[in-house]
Amino acid sequence: MARTSVPSVFVAVSAFTLLAACSGEAGDTVEEIAVPSGDAPAEIVQRQDNFEAIGDSFKTIREQLESEAPDFAVITPAAADINERLQRLPGLFPEGSSMEAGHDTEALAVIWEDPDGFAEVQEQAVAASADMMAAAATGDAEAVGGQVGNLGLNGCKACHDKYRVEQE
Ligand code: HEC
Repeated sequence: MARTSVPSVFVAVSAFTLLAACSGEAGDTVEEIAVPSGDAPAEIVQRQDNFEAIGDSFKTIREQLESEAPDFAVITPAAADINERLQRLPGLFPEGSSMEAGHDTEALAVIWEDPDGFAEVQEQAVAASADMMAAAATGDAEAVGGQVGNLGLNGCKACHDKYRVEQE
């Protein structure tokens, strides 16, 4: 994904096109749309890369569990990677880096309006990923599967449902 290289002026234009398409109003002007005052915070790219890597590791684990002989030499480091990356989240959401602030991101402003709720769901996800690591350490694929479901529901989905742009 080459979001990094998109100049903010194009981001603003695409946001405008999107809004115009949604509202059906032809009279909107680009000036009415929030335009970032400076360069996008570097954390936006860092957090998107971090989430992408989390998604890859999560997929790796699920694929292993679907295979005939799940390989714990693959599952164990992937589980640790997710846990370590989820712990980075608090540093990746600087104030003003929301979609509503005009940036090319799926992070919603409610993240900063509800900091306690956001912190809580992050902690919940970190805890669930630690449980997944513990299950991996037992070498019990079924137990790992249960924790994958728990993390997916109470970590990834719980946060995405509220704090990320709704996915189609
Ligand atoms: C505390 C909240 C939170 C948790 C927990 C969370 N996510 Fe996300 N996720 C987000 C937000 C917010 C974004 C949008 C980031 C952006 O665009 O800046 C996102 C984006 C993503 C993306 C898209 C990355 C990209 O390419 O831009 C993937 C993939 C993803 N998350 C997977 C996961 C998986 C898998 C889990 C669970 C193991 C998870 N997330 C847990 C909040 C969360």
